[in-house]
Amino acid sequence: MPMPKNPESDSTTVKLSRDTYSKLASLGKYSETMDQIIQRLTTQAKGLEDVVAGKSSITFIDGHEGRLLYRGYDIADLTTHSNYEETAFLLWNGHLPTVNELKGFSEELDSKRAIPRELVSILTTLPQNCDTMDALRVGVAALGVFDDPMYSQQEKAMSIAAKMGTMVAAIHRHKHDQEVVAPREDLSFAANFLYMLSGKVPSEEDSRLMDVLLILHADHEFNASTFTARVIASTLSDIYSAVTGAVGALKGPLHGGANEKVVEMTAEIGSPAKVDAYIRGKLASKAKINGFGHRVYKTMDPRAKILSDMAEHFVRTPKEKESLEIIQRIEAILLKEKNLYPNVDLFSGLALNHMGVPAYLFTPVFAIGRAPGWLAHVLEQYADNRIIRPISDYVGPQLMTYTSIEGRTSKGLRP
Ligand SMILES: CC(C)(COP(=O)(O)OP(=O)(O)OC[C@H]1O[C@@H](n2cnc3c(N)ncnc32)[C@H](O)[C@@H]1OP(=O)(O)O)[C@@H](O)C(=O)NCCC(=O)NCCS
Repeated sequence: MPMPKNPESDSTTVKLSRDTYSKLASLGKYSETMDQIIQRLTTQAKGLEDVVAGKSSITFIDGHEGRLLYRGYDIADLTTHSNYEETAFLLWNGHLPTVNELKGFSEELDSKRAIPRELVSILTTLPQNCDTMDALRVGVAALGVFDDPMYSQQEKAMSIAAKMGTMVAAIHRHKHDQEVVAPREDLSFAANFLYMLSGKVPSEEDSRLMDVLLILHADHEFNASTFTARVIASTLSDIYSAVTGAVGALKGPLHGGANEKVVEMTAEIGSPAKVDAYIRGKLASKAKINGFGHRVYKTMDPRAKILSDMAEHFVRTPKEKESLEIIQRIEAILLKEKNLYPNVDLFSGLALNHMGVPAYLFTPVFAIGRAPGWLAHVLEQYADNRIIRPISDYVGPQLMTYTSIEGRTSKGLRP
């Protein structure tokens, strides 16, 4: 049996591409030498912080300037001028569509919205009180069994993206003992989703706000759920398995789920006058405040900025205005006391509440928005694949002598 490496004496050889090297060089903000950076990334990067885990031409994030680009286009421009369908096309194809391209793409997406009867049956037999992300995970996994096995990868991607909203709406309707609403092909993706939730055609303003939310969530580089999807795809497993895994990763409260907690927190605080005491109490107990902080952004998350600006216009009722005021006060305290900036989750719950989307659907809506990004990454991975298989920094025991069971103590020592 080969001896495990001794981490004390073993020196680490790191091969770096030119791109990786320049990315590392840009990390000089830490005032570290290149050797120190490499040492830190290879031995101490808990949670793979700042580790460059692969190449991608889909999304660029500048965490210091607070910029997010999809295929080179700023999300500020996309949320102003684009919609869900066009953004999905952009992510999958690498360029903005022509009129005809967008028409064909949207028609195909629309035609794939309906979910098979058997899948409706599965979703409506699940316990009504089950977690909505668990139900969505079941739905995506089951879709892999019902979809046409002859579909190309692009068609499978279309089918998954198109049906995410339909599945989430069915899960919601079932929770309330309501008939599942069939999708309409004459509504935009965003409007149709809101329609399937309530059975009523939404206002143009709400449809636009939903479009913006979906665009803002569409991709975010190598975040945990996307990386999960890429790892699964890299084994050459199927696209449904990759997205099922991504849904599972997104369910975790450190990834999706924070916006639901922000809404709970604003309700718990109750009024702007109580913010100071509440937040200072949380900070004193070292609790994390949801909706703040980010692994990559060291300034305001650009998605939060867009939603924060929009919130000034969409909040109307006294309750909404009070929630916004509470959020803005928390924002001011955390910036002053901890130099912590808001992330997208600080404002997305406010927008979803405004559209009548219940809190238990917040993470599933995030999944609907993120699906085009997951699928773009899976397709990119398939197009230039090598199985993703890193190594660990082994810190366990050195070679041990096997002892018979009679000769062992509970700690593995000889009696
Ligand atoms: C997003 C998040 C998971 C990133 O985690 P991370 O990159 O591992 O960052 P860390 O948890 O190591 O935080 C770094 C420092 O900032 C502090 N910090 C980070 N986010 C914080 C928050 N939301 N509230 C209070 N302090 C926070 C940490 O306590 C830590 O301080 P320390 O160095 O004094 O211990 C983390 O910021 C978080 O839990 N935020 C709240 C949940 C949330 O909003 N998630 C949605 C993300 S879009």
